Amino acid sequence: MPVKLSIIGTGYVGLVTGACFAEVGHQVICADNNPAKVELLQSGGIPIFEPGLEDLVRRNVAAGRLKFTESTAEAVAGSDVIFIAVPTPQQPDGSVDLSFIEAVARDIAANLTAYRIIVDKSTVPVKTAEKVTDTIRRYARGKVDFDVVSNPEFLREGFAVEDLMKPDRIVIGTSGPRPAAVMREIYEPFKAPVILTDTSSAELIKHAANSFLALKISYINAVAAICEASGANVLEVAQGMGMDDRIGRRFLNAGIGFGGSCFPKDLAAFIKISGQLGYDFRLLKEVQRINADQMERFVAKITDALWVLKDKRLGVLGLAFKQNTDDVRQSPAIALCQRLLAEGAILRVHDPKAMTKAKAILPPGPAVEYVEDAQAVPVGCDAVVLATEWPEFARLDWQQARHAMVAPLVFDGRNLLDRAQMESWGFIYKGVGR
Ligand code: UGA
Repeated sequence: MPVKLSIIGTGYVGLVTGACFAEVGHQVICADNNPAKVELLQSGGIPIFEPGLEDLVRRNVAAGRLKFTESTAEAVAGSDVIFIAVPTPQQPDGSVDLSFIEAVARDIAANLTAYRIIVDKSTVPVKTAEKVTDTIRRYARGKVDFDVVSNPEFLREGFAVEDLMKPDRIVIGTSGPRPAAVMREIYEPFKAPVILTDTSSAELIKHAANSFLALKISYINAVAAICEASGANVLEVAQGMGMDDRIGRRFLNAGIGFGGSCFPKDLAAFIKISGQLGYDFRLLKEVQRINADQMERFVAKITDALWVLKDKRLGVLGLAFKQNTDDVRQSPAIALCQRLLAEGAILRVHDPKAMTKAKAILPPGPAVEYVEDAQAVPVGCDAVVLATEWPEFARLDWQQARHAMVAPLVFDGRNLLDRAQMESWGFIYKGVGR
């Protein structure tokens, strides 16, 4: 049965979640306190690049199942279930800034006149649902009944629509049978296994899962270092490990380290909250260290080969934190560019989707040229560095690139290219762990 839902916050998670809920038939109001964003959405624009999202939004707005507003009051009045999907940024000490969640909780409380279910969708530290409950109780006018549910999201940027429409599992954290039944109804159309648990366990599932995936990447990056030192090939090691289905091949891609708006932040937050709860999570601190070292090891590989980086012209393919997205938050590709610039290099950069957003962090100038055509990036370069695993970079005309370059060096930070093929075309190829 269709449920009336609202989502507060139209970032990656909020917007995609809202659109997917509408797609399966629910009535959805997406609220955001950024007037420019709401206006853009109301006029048919999409503030982020996410495959499939634009069609989904257009179709559901046209069908009358999805609408946008600036008003939390309208969202609370017009829905039975309110999802909180606002940012939870990292603070300098690694902890999470929960002020947006707290502000939304107060806002919801101020507008609460009848029973509602309030759902934490944002990634938050364990115990946040309890704090949200206390806050709403404190600020609600009169005695209004409500329940708070923790329902973490596991979508990956770049595959968000696909992940949301076909989830591995749905985690519902609540102590009450009433919200549990409604949450099951909301997710029924997605036909996914449901894990019903308490709010703290649900919150921990998210932090523990993301930290484990980050750990898996740091593990293979550490193995890659041993592969380089011993002459082994990390691609084959990962394949051999991954065929054991207790391990699995996914998230065993060695590279320049993980980034994005989730893993670095969630790892720091999990370490922080663990410390506050009395456990020193040294294992995860090491995951962070390996990730930081990975970038330095890659920069050292470039300096070793080129000797001097000052005034060298380097082509950089990729700026987004991974393929299929325009998101550059905590992007290892941008961090790499900044490191190379600090060494005095001159960069020719390209990304299929992320150039506009990258310009805000890596401004164009004499040392950074944004190149519209990926094929033109290598022209006049001393080396090309592949920093994001966009599949189209493997399909460039590399023979033509080879002739356009001053020297035939390629540093593949994502192990995307075929080494033997590149060498047969006359390149000196350096990947990660191979
Ligand atoms: C991650 C999780 O995968 C999602 O399940 C989760 O919902 C999301 O965080 C979140 O908390 O919202 P996301 O950050 O979109 O999703 O991207 P991932 O695909 O996980 O990639 C993260 C980083 O790890 C990227 O920089 C990527 O290039 C890197 N990575 C990934 C590797 O270096 N090697 C791998 O094998 C996999």
